[in-house]
Amino acid sequence: MTNAPRFLGLAGSLRQNSYNFQLLEALKTIGQGKVELELYTNLPNIPLFNEDLKPIENRPKSVIDLCAQIEAVDGLVIATPEYCQSVPGVLKNVLDWISISKALDEKPVAILGGTTGIWGTRYAQASLRHTLVSIGSHTMQRPMVFVNDIRNQLPHGDQPIAPELGQRLTAFADGMQKWAALHK
Ligand SMILES: Cc1cc2nc3c(=O)[nH]c(=O)nc-3n(C[C@H](O)[C@H](O)[C@H](O)COP(=O)(O)O)c2cc1C
Repeated sequence: MTNAPRFLGLAGSLRQNSYNFQLLEALKTIGQGKVELELYTNLPNIPLFNEDLKPIENRPKSVIDLCAQIEAVDGLVIATPEYCQSVPGVLKNVLDWISISKALDEKPVAILGGTTGIWGTRYAQASLRHTLVSIGSHTMQRPMVFVNDIRNQLPHGDQPIAPELGQRLTAFADGMQKWAALHK
């Protein structure tokens, strides 16, 4: 047993070898002892949101399960890719489901993200932060982690994580621990 706050980690990508999922895996390893991280893997089973289907009365099981997972932990951490200078549709879609379920009301949420290019998800995170404010979550302000050229920063094969990214994830895990305590 540890006193570390428990977080659910959600990567906003359906890609099998998603760099953002790998970023959460790295955070899980580096953050050990500060935060306990469980990684969410059921994103492919979240259906497209459609108000015609009476989503409040007919919430799909995958959404009910996700909301229960969120309610059971101290906070959510989202790693977002950037698509066309915003969040990918799959991430916005699941947040729309969560918004009507109220599972993130006053919940601590930490955000980070990485891209293969040079911008490191600045626009995507700004957009994500805006959505999370509208949902009513407590979105962690600092530290911010924008990872550019993510392909070459993550551990692969014999190659360890890039030292600077390792330090930034350590500081991020510290921030998550404090943020969760502040909003307990
Ligand atoms: C449709 C599409 C749009 C993209 N737009 C951007 C972008 O605006 N800015 C950026 O830095 N990268 C962009 N990328 C590159 C993604 O950030 C990159 O593919 C990233 O690795 C995706 O994250 P993942 O590995 O977690 O799936 C785009 C990729 C796709 C497929």
